[in-house]
Amino acid sequence: MTSKIYILIGPPGAGKGTQAKNIANTKDFVLISTGDLLRENVEKRTELGQIAKSYMDKGEFVPIELVARIIKSNIEQNLGKSGFLFDGFPRDLSQNALLDEMLKEFNLDVDKVIYIDVKDEAILERLTNRRVCPKCKKVYHMKFNPPKKDELCDDCEVPLITRDDDKPDVIKNRLATYHKSTHPLVEHFEKGGKIIRINGEKSPKEVENQIIANI
Ligand code: AP5
Repeated sequence: MTSKIYILIGPPGAGKGTQAKNIANTKDFVLISTGDLLRENVEKRTELGQIAKSYMDKGEFVPIELVARIIKSNIEQNLGKSGFLFDGFPRDLSQNALLDEMLKEFNLDVDKVIYIDVKDEAILERLTNRRVCPKCKKVYHMKFNPPKKDELCDDCEVPLITRDDDKPDVIKNRLATYHKSTHPLVEHFEKGGKIIRINGEKSPKEVENQIIANI
């Protein structure tokens, strides 16, 4: 059986992480989130994590060789599974060329690209109000999806934290990088007829329903 390949794409704060886990669970896909994998390396203070942190804190792309290492080992470990969902990769045309090359090696090809469309004005509000549980990584929003108790994770009861790259200056940089480097991929995949365009400005449940109905 050939594994299905899906990609989640959208600006920072579009809700990719919020949706990715549910989609992967529903479809029984392996989730490969480069942001989460890089943060895991930062937390464990691996050599790769220490290099990555200096880029992530400024809202810049981590060098492609480091990202390639993470992606390749994750594909290899999960070959034969029913599908893969990529969140945060590819992030520009050169990463897309690299993905094509890796997939070809395993006789795989991209099936569909889920584009979560959210305007810049909504992004700033989403990211400045995002809080994350440092233990289980659950994502909250202080207005749209607040924890039950003041700034404590509902499940772990530990204080929630703000991501280092959710500072207003860094958010602006991430958004600018998205428009310059990542958004051209949407046009690229659109030409190939692979884009599923999702209105990301609905509630998380409505966004999830749109996605599930389309894949
Ligand atoms: P990464 O972690 O991938 O960050 P990102 O793409 O900027 O996306 P975010 O995680 O910020 O947002 P999201 O879309 O997942 O939104 P979320 O669901 O949390 O990457 C971080 C960094 O790592 C990069 O800047 C780069 O340095 C490096 N990196 C990663 N991949 C790389 C690669 N391939 N190459 C090189 N470098 C790489 O939602 C946001 C908030 O909104 C939350 O508070 C949530 O509760 C809320 N929310 C979600 N959905 C809704 C909704 N429908 N309505 C209202 N609120 C909502």
